[in-house]
Amino acid sequence: MSAPNSSYDPVEVTPLHPDEVARMRDEALSAIEAAGDLDELKEVRLAHASDRSPLALANREIGALPPAAKADAGKRVGGARRDVGQALKARQAVLENERDERVLVEERVDVTLPWDRTPRGARHPLTTVAERMTDVFVGMGFEVAEGPEVEAEWFNFDALNFEPDHPARTMQDTFFVENDEGGDSGMVMRTHTSPVQVRALLERELPVYVVAPGKTFRTDELDATHTPVFHQLEGLVVDRGITLAHLRGAIDAFVGAVFGEGLRTRFRASYFPFTEPSAEVDMECFVCRGSSVGNPEAPCRTCASEGWIEIGGCGVVNPRVLRAAGVDPEEYSGWAFGLGIERTLMFAHGVRDMRDMVEGDIRFSSAFGSEI
Ligand code: PHE
Repeated sequence: MSAPNSSYDPVEVTPLHPDEVARMRDEALSAIEAAGDLDELKEVRLAHASDRSPLALANREIGALPPAAKADAGKRVGGARRDVGQALKARQAVLENERDERVLVEERVDVTLPWDRTPRGARHPLTTVAERMTDVFVGMGFEVAEGPEVEAEWFNFDALNFEPDHPARTMQDTFFVENDEGGDSGMVMRTHTSPVQVRALLERELPVYVVAPGKTFRTDELDATHTPVFHQLEGLVVDRGITLAHLRGAIDAFVGAVFGEGLRTRFRASYFPFTEPSAEVDMECFVCRGSSVGNPEAPCRTCASEGWIEIGGCGVVNPRVLRAAGVDPEEYSGWAFGLGIERTLMFAHGVRDMRDMVEGDIRFSSAFGSEI
């Protein structure tokens, strides 16, 4: 590095010449003015105010000047750099302001716009009611079991102690499934969820505490009170020392959870081949609680002024069923029930016509909201 040259004239060092410094400054200032947005200004800053900008490079030349010339050149270049710095700052503020205002307009949200143009779907009430019913038993410790909708005749009838000539097997009730040649396939559309009892006993370790919600099929014409496709909730308990009292308690807990606490239930003697004894289960009408019976002044639409509503069938598992499923009836006993899911929906939500449940009009489902 050469020693300072006392005869060195800063005016002769081109980048430090007043005209040149003024030119660099003016060039920077007009570039700053021309920057149309913050990105462009960033480029301008890099070109005119960074360590590699012409003014910064000129600043470096000052060190090589003789002391007498340094102050003058320093003032000149420093002043120019200050001007550029201030102009950058000012332009930055203007451009940020502009951007903020643009964003406010471009990203504006019109909170008065209609929000419901894309309607929200709703689950079918049969699904949500079935889940609610199932949950009541899951809460009591039951597991959920499943079986196929196209079922072997053996599970649907034989294992459940239906004699070969039992009326329920005939064409009036059962959808028989043909084989490829149009003959008997040994399969049916299950007419109830009870075949799941046998499947659960065969598949699971004892004791068994299961509920099985599902679709069932019978050859009924669709009308206000019948549908060929409907749903049941099967329940099965097989354990040591099980009695009808446990069944009664489970049914009462179910009625209390779904229809309201404190409703009475009653068993009416009935017949099912797979339970012995068997009963129909009624619950006290949760609307009139019996007050409409024999009282034409205050009829009840919910129970047709009968005071009771039938909700399903039940009974003590027939030892023949246990034997068919490989369970020793000397050691184990149990009970089962089958509750109608459509009936529960009709009563719990005042649905009067079963056709509403199957026609698929989304206004029906939507009326029940998006219950999860
Ligand atoms: N499976 C019977 C029906 O469909 C109901 C039922 C289930 C009865 C379990 C007793 C025990 O009507």
